[in-house]
Amino acid sequence: MSDEIDSLKTAGLSRRGFLKGLGVGSVATGLLSPVSLKDALAKEGGVVGPGEVSVLLKINGQSRKVDVEPRVTLLDALRNRLDLTGCKKVCDRGTCGACTVLVDGNPVYSCSMLAIDAEGREITTVEGIGTPEKMNAVQKAFVEHDAQQCGFCTPGFVVACTAFVRKHPNASLDEVRAGLGGNLCRCGTYAGMMLAAVDSAKGGA
Ligand code: FES
Ligand code: FES
Repeated sequence: MSDEIDSLKTAGLSRRGFLKGLGVGSVATGLLSPVSLKDALAKEGGVVGPGEVSVLLKINGQSRKVDVEPRVTLLDALRNRLDLTGCKKVCDRGTCGACTVLVDGNPVYSCSMLAIDAEGREITTVEGIGTPEKMNAVQKAFVEHDAQQCGFCTPGFVVACTAFVRKHPNASLDEVRAGLGGNLCRCGTYAGMMLAAVDSAKGGA
């Protein structure tokens, strides 16, 4: 230790000054903002990570910047970083549909898409589809048909159903069943949800 102190003195630094210098350096490094995804891709020749990159997402008509590691899913970015918790994390493996959001108008399992891949796309979550004061046709039909029990799968169904009835006005019950086949309900509320979908398909969402 005394050799260490001697060498600091020789270099013209006190031990306290040396430690203070280290502290400032560490904080400054910690405050560095992640580079934008575009810049990172350009600099690293198409490879980013493992550190955070800055991603600009278009969500419900607003631009939202979020710093995420490239491995982070769109679902985790929405829920954990942007406080949009309508999309639910249930299976987290592309099976149940509880995490469904719209990407460029199409239903997508947000647990199976990376946040960095969503940059530049139009993302709509259930929060952007309607509000309790101003529900869209699908949400109103879900209320009228009492089409929810647990609530975990409901937002995903509402989002998937909204995308479906926009593309298939006047869909039959069989078409609705096939169209919503990517969303699972484990408690048996299908009957109400299918009727809600058929009803809202008549008016458009
Ligand atoms: S949580 Fe994404 S499909 Fe189940
Ligand atoms: S309403 Fe959620 S599992 Fe059936």
